[in-house]
Amino acid sequence: MGTDKSAELDEVKKRFLNFVYAASLLCLGAASLLAQFPRPAVDPASAESGSKVYASNCARCHGDDTRGTANAPDLLRSLAVLHDRREMLYGKDLGPLLTTSPNHNFKFNEKQLADLSQFLTASVNGILRSGYTAQPTNLLSGDAKAGEAYFNGTGGCNKCHSATGDFAGLATRYPPDALQQKFLFPGSGLFIRRKMQVTVKLPSGKVYSGDLLRIDDFTVAFREKSGEYRSFNRIAGTTVTTVDPFAAHIDLLDKYTDADIHNLTTYLVTLK
Ligand code: HEC
Ligand code: HEC
Repeated sequence: MGTDKSAELDEVKKRFLNFVYAASLLCLGAASLLAQFPRPAVDPASAESGSKVYASNCARCHGDDTRGTANAPDLLRSLAVLHDRREMLYGKDLGPLLTTSPNHNFKFNEKQLADLSQFLTASVNGILRSGYTAQPTNLLSGDAKAGEAYFNGTGGCNKCHSATGDFAGLATRYPPDALQQKFLFPGSGLFIRRKMQVTVKLPSGKVYSGDLLRIDDFTVAFREKSGEYRSFNRIAGTTVTTVDPFAAHIDLLDKYTDADIHNLTTYLVTLK
């Protein structure tokens, strides 16, 4: 009798421990996902102050709507701005850029920079509305068929990806919100796999290419697919071209509508 009871107790204890273990795994999973794919939140008061800093200092070149003018680029596609937002830097890296880069000699204090950063973060969130304010359950409210059509049509995703090739089983690698973050910002998160690609054509006509390691006015160094390290002096007659593997994704940020984003996510989640 007594042994039965304690066996039963043991069973309850074991189940409880299993539960705690599973729950803590879940929490760990959620925490690491959050670290990997932060959803930059915005303090409305700070963003409001930032919009004033923006209006009186930046708008004349970057446009009232931050989307650029003939004189200055679209800030919502700026890698510097996207990086600030993604890593929630509150202007820490934008500060030096705004102080020393050509066209910029602003001396903002920490508060002004944080406000400006919050304003720009809110503006990026704005063009990605659905991605950043929707609850995860709404992520999949799109139309998978329309998403597939976009993938193979307007979006041109199939020029670089294939549902049966690199994307086979994609949805088993990421939960839906991470998947959405991944196609919006493929360079984000902990696993930045692709480096800048470089192609070097020597005066002899020989061509080499690989992952860029270092480049300046005089030398270029890279690693070929085979793993071979190469470096060349940039003597006359040598041409060097670099390609940002994420350029296509950055261009796409400007083109997606909310519906495209919903449809794509709903489609990608079917790639099991
Ligand atoms: C006099 C015009 C002018 C003003 C004022 C100005 N900018 Fe710029 N900004 C430019 C130009 C031109 C570039 C492009 C520079 C380049 O490509 O080398 C640029 C580039 C940038 C970039 C980098 C974009 C990239 O390619 O990643 C950021 C970020 C930026 N500006 C932010 C700001 C902010 C914030 C303000 C206001 C505090 C501001 N700028 C005010 C002209 C201006
Ligand atoms: C010009 C080529 C190109 C186009 C067009 C393109 N991508 Fe990508 N995409 C890439 C590259 C390069 C990566 C990074 C892959 C890596 O890290 O190995 C990437 C990564 C991704 C990832 C993350 C994959 C992973 O396993 O982490 C997703 C999701 C994605 N793209 C979706 C899309 C969608 C959806 C479209 C169309 C709307 C699209 N891509 C268009 C080149 C492209």
